[in-house]
Amino acid sequence: MKQWIKIQRIPGVLASAYEKATRLAVESYYSQVADEIASSFATGAILDLGTGPGYLPVEIVRRKPEISLIGIDLSRKLIHMAQANAAKAGFSHQIQFKFGNAAKLGFDDDLFDMVISTGMLHSLKDPVRVLKEIYRVLKNGGQAWIFDPAKVASDADLLKWKASLTSRERFFLWIFKMLGLHKPVVTYHRNQVIPMLEAAGFSEYRIEEKNKEIRIKLKK
Ligand SMILES: C[S@@+](CC[C@H](N)C(=O)[O-])C[C@H]1O[C@@H](n2cnc3c(N)ncnc32)[C@H](O)[C@@H]1O
Repeated sequence: MKQWIKIQRIPGVLASAYEKATRLAVESYYSQVADEIASSFATGAILDLGTGPGYLPVEIVRRKPEISLIGIDLSRKLIHMAQANAAKAGFSHQIQFKFGNAAKLGFDDDLFDMVISTGMLHSLKDPVRVLKEIYRVLKNGGQAWIFDPAKVASDADLLKWKASLTSRERFFLWIFKMLGLHKPVVTYHRNQVIPMLEAAGFSEYRIEEKNKEIRIKLKK
């Protein structure tokens, strides 16, 4: 997966277009992931890396209000959108969203019961460094679920998304496409991921690959 320029953070001018896309995927994707997390996680603290507009944390807390959740992202614009989304859903007290870099987490060691991340892995400049940070902040026995979907919205959602874009959002998407910076998402495969996990210190892992998505479940 060599790329000359790797844009990690979603650029501010594309944040609202991205927010619209994820909003359309709440039913088809985030609700299902939230069901899985809520049914296998009893209580405690969860950290969501690259939280974007925060729809996954909102769906998790909707199912398990006793969970405390922190979402971080490199995009300040998306963090503001995530805060607004949590407030609208009535969960501002259970979820904290803040600016932060997954490669340099400002948290103590052994703090979180679970670390989650959807759609961030493929965009990371140094995935091993992020995985090492995940290992560091997880409690012993804690789990990390890293899902990297190439496509979360169905084709029907994609059409609805295109129709919902403003002319400004279309313009910036076009500019990024022309510059070769807006590329289809390509996720890692199992054989690329295993050496990264081991380099980060994880020895217990389960990896599933299906429908253009890789799901990595780790235990510290
Ligand atoms: C494709 S989006 C996924 C957002 C959200 N998890 C979702 O599923 O809708 C990837 C997110 O990761 C963020 N990101 C990328 N690299 C990051 C890093 N090193 N630290 C924190 N956030 C990062 C981007 O700004 C973007 O919001």
